[in-house]
Amino acid sequence: MAHMIIGGKAVQAQSGKTLEVRSPVDGLTFETIPRGEAADIDLAVAAARQALNGAWGKMSALERGRLMLKMAQHVLDHAEELALLEAQDTGKPMTTARNDMVVLARYFEFYGSAADKIHGEVIPFLNGYQVNLLREPLGVTAHIIPWNYPAQMMGRSIGPALAMGNAVVVKPAEDACLSCLRIAELALEVGFPPGALNIVSGLGEEAGAALAKHPDINFISFTGSNEVGVLIQQAAALNAVKCVLELGGKSPHVVFSDANLELAASTVVRGIIQNTGQTCTAGSRLLVQSDFYEEFLSLVAEKFSKVRVGTPEMNLDCGPVVNLSQQQRVNKYIAQAQQDGLKILAQGQIDPNVPNGGYYVTPTLFGQVPAEHPLAHEEVFGPVLAAMPFVDEAHAIALANGTDYGLLAAVWTENGGRQQRVAKALKCGQVFVNSFGAGGGVELPFGGVKSSGHGREKGFMALEEMSTTKTVIHFHG
Ligand code: NAI
Ligand code: MG
Repeated sequence: MAHMIIGGKAVQAQSGKTLEVRSPVDGLTFETIPRGEAADIDLAVAAARQALNGAWGKMSALERGRLMLKMAQHVLDHAEELALLEAQDTGKPMTTARNDMVVLARYFEFYGSAADKIHGEVIPFLNGYQVNLLREPLGVTAHIIPWNYPAQMMGRSIGPALAMGNAVVVKPAEDACLSCLRIAELALEVGFPPGALNIVSGLGEEAGAALAKHPDINFISFTGSNEVGVLIQQAAALNAVKCVLELGGKSPHVVFSDANLELAASTVVRGIIQNTGQTCTAGSRLLVQSDFYEEFLSLVAEKFSKVRVGTPEMNLDCGPVVNLSQQQRVNKYIAQAQQDGLKILAQGQIDPNVPNGGYYVTPTLFGQVPAEHPLAHEEVFGPVLAAMPFVDEAHAIALANGTDYGLLAAVWTENGGRQQRVAKALKCGQVFVNSFGAGGGVELPFGGVKSSGHGREKGFMALEEMSTTKTVIHFHG
């Protein structure tokens, strides 16, 4: 049975309650996790506060950084074990899970290396004054993690928080959190002081809600659905604490007729298939210039039809989706689109040898999707790609910006002026030119505009988000 880490100890929920963990591969229960609730969150927040007032709070930035670098190596030393947990829990191919652990280690490396390189400023002021701007931790930071990339998301969220000297409380997703629980244990092994990193597993509406509204937290970072994101922001508002929200997207590829077709087509397919489409940054809309729409779509369809779905051990293009409700959600979108007369241009295939009872879905490419159809603007969170033509640059920009989301976008063209113009006109947090990268790039500031959320993660900007400043105004005469 998996356990939580609170105040440096491996514990079960105080109530003794547990939750069953089902494998997406066959739908069978293979593990149990503690069902933490408000009482466990209280203990975790208190332990974090105590750590700030104790060994963790007293540690120098240099020592914190060294600990994090040690953690990066410890993660790599346990990468295979963590990858196996991640693959069992989420159903993703082992190759993907292994890569996720490399990214997790990279977060500890990047932020560990940065811990002693963030410094304050001296501000020129009136004669007779010395003004110092100190950079300080926020205090106890709360991190609510989704199930699509549990380990990576935990690294992304707690890396900058720990580097800045905050004490963290993590609430991983009930649907996949085995790697997160193990990561917290690994942190104890490398010597993080008790209470610096606490983790409470449990349901969103129980442990998650209790953490979000806890009066003694100083910050919340959340990645997940819009619906819950709004609840998080409300809870943060009631405590007047800052929150960073990352709420998914409907990210477009904008492909002009002068693009490198082969590179664009293979990148487009990978961008929606990765993690079975369960990626906030999935490239789920394909906008293509009308004069070569047919030619480009036939290339994309050819590649799309080669996509194979299987178990983690099969190491195909993608695995099952995470649970029954995601499977039903994806299948509903596909069925509704067909019912509405949308044309299927290509479908991938589920390997015939996958076990019964798993949550497999068929990757599907739809063509000529009208801009007003739900498939053109709602997040499916599955391997479903919606293609549509555009006439010119202005039309492309209008379509690309025509959803409530604004997370990522890609523009494909060899025309330098157009690359710049379109990148500037797109309303989102990251734009790729002749490339598309979901996930990695820990150095690159990341986050959304509009309904995709606010605040920035990754890169140095995350260190600013997870810290505050104090202006010390000293009159010396
Ligand atoms: P969710 O938003 O309910 O879950 C994400 C995290 O929030 C989990 O840790 C969950 O325990 C927690 N949570 C749930 N309710 C909470 C509450 N009331 N208070 C505090 N924490 C709470 O997402 P769900 O239901 O698993 O997936 C639904 C849809 O959300 C997906 O189909 C997808 O569209 C979107 N989603 C987006 C993600 C992204 O990466 N942007 C990740 C996961 C889901
Ligand atoms: Mg939910």
